[in-house]
Amino acid sequence: KTNQQWGGRFSEPTDAFVARFTASVMFDQRLFRQDIQGSIAHARMLAKVGVLSDVERDDIIRGLSEIRVEIERGEFEWSIELEDVHMNIEAALTRKIGITGKKLHTGRSRNDQVATDIRLYMRDETDLILDEISRLQSGLLDLAEREADTIMPGFTHLQTAQPVTFGHHLMAWFEMLSRDYERFVDCRKRINVLPLGAAALAGTTYPIDRFYTAELLQFSAPTNNSLDAVSDRDFAIEFCAASSLLLMHMTRMSEELVLWTSSQFNFINLPDRFCTGSSIMPQKKNPDVPELVRGKSGRVYGHLVSLLTLMKSQPLAYNKDNQEDKEPLFDTVDTVKGCLRAFADMIPALEARKDVMREAALRGFSTATDLADYLVRKGVAFRDAHEIVGLSVAYGVRTQKDLGEMSLDELQQFSTIIEADVFDVLSLDGSVAARNHIGGTAPDQVRWAVQQGRQMLQAR
Ligand code: ARG
Repeated sequence: KTNQQWGGRFSEPTDAFVARFTASVMFDQRLFRQDIQGSIAHARMLAKVGVLSDVERDDIIRGLSEIRVEIERGEFEWSIELEDVHMNIEAALTRKIGITGKKLHTGRSRNDQVATDIRLYMRDETDLILDEISRLQSGLLDLAEREADTIMPGFTHLQTAQPVTFGHHLMAWFEMLSRDYERFVDCRKRINVLPLGAAALAGTTYPIDRFYTAELLQFSAPTNNSLDAVSDRDFAIEFCAASSLLLMHMTRMSEELVLWTSSQFNFINLPDRFCTGSSIMPQKKNPDVPELVRGKSGRVYGHLVSLLTLMKSQPLAYNKDNQEDKEPLFDTVDTVKGCLRAFADMIPALEARKDVMREAALRGFSTATDLADYLVRKGVAFRDAHEIVGLSVAYGVRTQKDLGEMSLDELQQFSTIIEADVFDVLSLDGSVAARNHIGGTAPDQVRWAVQQGRQMLQAR
C-alpha cells in the first residue's frame, strides 16, 4: 500500500522515478492562490447545500488561509510524493485541521479542480496583460502626438516610398495593439466559465449548486457539459494564439527599432538604460531590448504549437496529457508580460532625430507620386504622368538631385505643363499635409487619431 491520497487500491508504492516523472508540483505550485481560492468557494458551496456543516466550512477556510500565508512566506514544504499542487495543499489542510480536511474533496475531482485553477489563473494574468497593453498604447499615443509633424520616409519593400509623419507610423503600431487587446478580451470570455462541479467527468451525485460557486468565483456561468469541462483547453490555445499575434506585432516594431537605431538609419535614439554594450567593441550600444523581444516570439509561437499538438486527438475526457499544458502556458504568460513591460517602459523614452528623418525623406524621390498627382490635376492621364515622373526620376538619379532640388527649367524638360506651383507639392510638408482624410498621414489626422485613441483607452 502507498501513502498516496489515492493509494487504497494499490499494493506497492509508486516507483521512485515514476513518482518524479508524473509529478507536476515543481511547476504547478504557481497555481496555489487559485487552488486555495477555488477550494474555499467549493467549501462554501458544500456548506450552503448542507454537505458540510458551517463549522467544517469555517475550519477549512481558516486552514486554507493559513496555508496560503505559509506558502507566500516560503515556509511551505512541497512534496514530490504528493504529486501536484492540489494534493500538497489538501494533505497540508488535513495535517492542520484533521478529518475535516478530508471532506473538502467531496463532490470534486482534481480534473475539474485543475481546470478551475488554470482558468482563474489565466483570467488574472489576462487582466494584467490587458492593463500592460493599455500602458504601452498610452505611451504610443503620447509619442505620436509629440511626433505628429515629424516627417520621415515611409517605406514599401524597405525602399523609400512616400513621406509620412512619424506620428502616423506610431499610430499604425497602436492599431495593431488595439486588435491584440480585443483578442485578449475575447479570449477572456471563454476563459471565464466554471468547470467545477464536472467532477472527474460525469458530474456528481451531491446536490451541488454550481451557479453559486460560479458567482463566488466571479465566473460568468458554469460550463454546460461535464465531459467538455474537464477536457477543454481551447482557452489556453486561444491565449497562446493571441499572444503569438501580439508577439508577432512586437517583432515588427522591434525590427524597425533595430533598423532605426543603426548608424545607417540613425532615426532614433534609445536611452542608454535600454541598451547594452559589447565586451570587445568599445563603441557599441546595442538595442538589446527590441532584439530580445524579436527573439522571444519564437518560444511563444512554439508554445502555441505545443498546446495544439498536446490537445490533438485526445479522446474525451481528462487525460494526463493535460498536465503538460502548464509549462507552455506559464512561459507564455511570463514572456508576454516581460515583453510588454519592456516596451511600455521604453517607448515613451524613445527620442526621434527629426532632422535625420527629414533628410532621409528628402532622398529617394519620396514625392514622386505627388508630382504625378500634380500632373493629373492639370489634365494629364495618370499613366502618362507616371511615365513623365519616371523620366524625371531617372534624370535625378543621373544628376544626384531630388525632384524638389531641380529647377523649373529642368522639370519642364519632361512636361511643359509643370509650373512654379509644383514646388508646393514637391515639399515634404505639402506632401504629408495633402493626405488629409481619415486614416491619412497628415499631421492633423494624426492628432485626431490620437484623440480618438485616448477616448478609446479611457473607455476600457
Ligand atoms: N496535475 C494534474 C494536471 O495538471 C491534475 C489533475 C490530475 N488528475 C488525474 N486524474 N490524474 O492536470
